Amino acid sequence: MLVLLTVFAVYISYFLILILILLKFLEYLLPLIFRGGIYVPTKMDKIKKMVDFLEVRPGEKAVDLGSGDGRLVIALAKAGAEAYGYEINPFLVTLARKNIKKAGLEGRAFVYQKNFWKEDLSKFDIIVIYGIFHIMKRLGDKLKNNMKENARVASNAFSFPLWKHVEERDGVYLYKKNGRN
Ligand SMILES: C[S@@+](CC[C@H](N)C(=O)[O-])C[C@H]1O[C@@H](n2cnc3c(N)ncnc32)[C@H](O)[C@@H]1O
Repeated sequence: MLVLLTVFAVYISYFLILILILLKFLEYLLPLIFRGGIYVPTKMDKIKKMVDFLEVRPGEKAVDLGSGDGRLVIALAKAGAEAYGYEINPFLVTLARKNIKKAGLEGRAFVYQKNFWKEDLSKFDIIVIYGIFHIMKRLGDKLKNNMKENARVASNAFSFPLWKHVEERDGVYLYKKNGRN
């Protein structure tokens, strides 16, 4: 009986140690995976519409704020832009870089692991965002002071509460900085 109890206690200890290791691992991994919130990619047909909508001119600098797997950065580069993506989630950054390489766009499309709130956005002619409603006011305030004259901004799904869009197509809002916005 004593032997049985000892074996049982040893197994329980192993089990508890395993659980503790797993919890420690998740404590490290989960914030990395979910950094930036839940990832929702834009559908490919909408990506195409957004790029058409923006009328990208060759050599323009474009950025996707929160670039996910890089699909919009790739589409902007294919349309002729020098395209950048700022993405907070390191796994998505790795995936996007792989996709850029696969598309043969290294040298024209770049993704960086960065928090876009901390970045200078004043060099871009085109800024694209697929955010969430509660950040739009703050982002509008940031862009107001940190955006090139005549730059275009396309926001997928969420509008800027204090800005007037120039056009809306399929749930994408287009804005132009012209001294009023
Ligand atoms: C709705 S997804 C859009 C992804 C991509 N732009 C697309 O249209 O498919 C938003 C992305 O923004 C990223 N993100 C959220 N906050 C961020 C921040 N402060 N800086 C950089 N990326 C951020 C998320 O990790 C996520 O990949």
